[in-house]
Amino acid sequence: MATSLRDLHEGGFGATLRRDSWWVAPALTATVLLSFAVYATWAAGTGTHYEWGPYLSPFYSPLIQTSWWPLSPAFLILVFPLGFRVTCYYYRKAYYRAFFLDPVACAVGEARHGYKGESKLPFLLQNVHRFFMYAAVVFIFILSYDVILALRWPVDGAWRAAGIIPAGSPRTFGIGLGTIVMAANVGLLACYTFGCHSLRHLVGGQVDCFSCARAGQLRYRLWRGVSGLNRHHMTWAWCSLFSVALTDLYIRLCAMGVITDIRIL
Ligand code: FES
Repeated sequence: MATSLRDLHEGGFGATLRRDSWWVAPALTATVLLSFAVYATWAAGTGTHYEWGPYLSPFYSPLIQTSWWPLSPAFLILVFPLGFRVTCYYYRKAYYRAFFLDPVACAVGEARHGYKGESKLPFLLQNVHRFFMYAAVVFIFILSYDVILALRWPVDGAWRAAGIIPAGSPRTFGIGLGTIVMAANVGLLACYTFGCHSLRHLVGGQVDCFSCARAGQLRYRLWRGVSGLNRHHMTWAWCSLFSVALTDLYIRLCAMGVITDIRIL
């Protein structure tokens, strides 16, 4: 039985004194991330049923038409939000444990004993996270604009048979269940994005004294806000992962005629 760090090393993979079900968290993480990857790849690859009425799936936003790209345009879009998640500090911890078992859990023996960190390729590329963060912030504004469009409904209901609103149709204010689903998704994505560790460093890092720094009060307030969201970064990471998939699913099922959207206003 392992009794010390040395024993853990000598005991090999899985050696531990822990009595709890330490393997549940990495197993659950692997299952959820794999399920999301399969669903997102399938949904992005279909190239169909991504809009219904004023709703647009987050996987296909912004809507782009390409003649040179042979695959679904969703793949061009998803590079940015997926790159942001894959390089996220929290997700790195989660999937290093779940997929690489490195380390599989705290105080559990590892299969590998040489720690190289993220100082060599390909893991060196994780440092591009800050640049994906810039793109992710832009996406929050794009998806917010989609919510505004989801408040604008055609005056007559002739479009419902095809599910697509003809260009130039007169519109009026309205709210459907899908509008609320899309708004909730943007809210959760914003909490995840604006709680990013890189953003926290960008607004408050390298400052020893806020009252001495230029725009110190503003930076202090921003830093406090980002820090507040950052404290629950893991929660926002999972909630927003589910919400983005469920928003696509809701709009997809409406477009396929499997479910009927509820018009609230
Ligand atoms: S650290 Fe998680 S999104 Fe930046």
